[in-house]
Amino acid sequence: MGQKGKLQKFAEVTAFENCYEYAKELKGKWSSDVFKNNNPITVELACGKGEYTVGLATRFANRNFIGIDVKGNRIWQGAKYALENNLTNVAFHRLMIGNIEEYFAKDEIDEFWITFPDPQHAKERKRLTNPMFLNHYRKISKAGTTMNLKCDSTRFYTYTKEIIASQNLEILQDSDDIYAWDDIPEHLANIQTFYEKMWLKEGKKIKFLRYVL
Ligand SMILES: C[S@@+](CC[C@H](N)C(=O)[O-])C[C@H]1O[C@@H](n2cnc3c(N)ncnc32)[C@H](O)[C@@H]1O
Repeated sequence: MGQKGKLQKFAEVTAFENCYEYAKELKGKWSSDVFKNNNPITVELACGKGEYTVGLATRFANRNFIGIDVKGNRIWQGAKYALENNLTNVAFHRLMIGNIEEYFAKDEIDEFWITFPDPQHAKERKRLTNPMFLNHYRKISKAGTTMNLKCDSTRFYTYTKEIIASQNLEILQDSDDIYAWDDIPEHLANIQTFYEKMWLKEGKKIKFLRYVL
């Protein structure tokens, strides 16, 4: 997809009824005003094209899903799929994750997913599982909220485990090679993102961590 396609997608996504941009007015109102039910809300952080947002929404109809990314042209793909398939439990929100508590209220979120984040080897402050980001997520989530991390980078996985240990957080699931895991959950095996497919082609092992925030 060339530059024109990117710009077209960027323009189109602002008109999609399931997409929101920097929507501070919805803080605390996602259940009542967007989903119009009280089902638990899962947020996919840095969702890119939103494969997990729509893939989980298809499998778990009694939950709501919000994909967040700063790049509107990437969100376009998941948002369009959700519209075409009448997935009413899906929304996308374009924003910078570092300010996330400006857009969601305390206790509003029940679960987080992060899939194949930029590993940010040189800049710890930008890593989406660093202590500063975890504190942002805690400000908008319920007690016991879980974080699901699926990634390719051994360094990012190891870094995240160090943070988990230093904060004494409970690990619920941990695999350094999910496709060698006998009881791999169906949604971990069968939803693959754009970046996952790319890394699999290069022979990388895919890691997974599920832990309590
Ligand atoms: C490597 S891509 C992964 C996308 C997708 N999860 C996948 O697996 O294909 C990382 C994504 O994170 C987004 N991103 C990185 N930092 C962000 C931030 N602080 N706020 C919002 N989006 C961010 C980028 O725009 C990009 O789409």
